[in-house]
Amino acid sequence: MAEVSVRAESKSEGIVIHDDWPGYSLDLFSYPAHYYGDLDCVIIPHGVIMDRTERLARNIMDDLGDHDIVVLCVLKGGYQFCADLVDRIKALSCNSDHTIPMRVHFIRLKSYLNDQSTEDLHILGAEDLSFLSGKNVLIVEGIVGTGKTMKTLLKHVESFRPKMIKIAGLLVKRVQLSPTCVPDYVGFEIPNRFVVGYALDYNEYFRDLNVSQTTMAGCKGRNPNGCL
Ligand code: HPA
Ligand code: MG
Repeated sequence: MAEVSVRAESKSEGIVIHDDWPGYSLDLFSYPAHYYGDLDCVIIPHGVIMDRTERLARNIMDDLGDHDIVVLCVLKGGYQFCADLVDRIKALSCNSDHTIPMRVHFIRLKSYLNDQSTEDLHILGAEDLSFLSGKNVLIVEGIVGTGKTMKTLLKHVESFRPKMIKIAGLLVKRVQLSPTCVPDYVGFEIPNRFVVGYALDYNEYFRDLNVSQTTMAGCKGRNPNGCL
């Protein structure tokens, strides 16, 4: 029986962004003109994301540094975080005595329509994950909202009997999560608001907002490209 240690004993909620955090004024940052009028504020500046990612990479190295890892990047929202996290892990690994053999695999999930989570979860590109059998798997996700998506994915990955599964989530929303779905490595705990940028989208828009993590609060129901 595979040992699945998703329920780590010492989980961190990451950097906590409180509900009353107004964010930074958009006037303090530059962002693409085609998004003028669609955004509310900058919640987490890009540099802070990078600094936090560096620390998560170190924590992952400390925990898993003696094993090889299969990184399972959850597309599309997880691609930027995964790329930066893998970069940092590689850099740390190069500068240490032991390097970690790492394999990166991509899996595509879709459960959101507009800003609403739907019951319909589609797992694409996951037909045969049998190579995960006996491996240490690090699932990398951009955002964990209700946790339903992660729960379904976890069940799917577990069915291939990996030796261990850890989850890294850049953002975790403060909603009622089932305990099995709280990531082992959390970048930021954020209010239950809809956020975009750094590869997180609203109907495929805003993935190119890689300078900052911004919220769309106040533009619900509007075409995010500015045309009503
Ligand atoms: N933004 C983008 N994608 C998401 C979010 C969000 O706030 N929550 C779940 N998927
Ligand atoms: Mg999305």
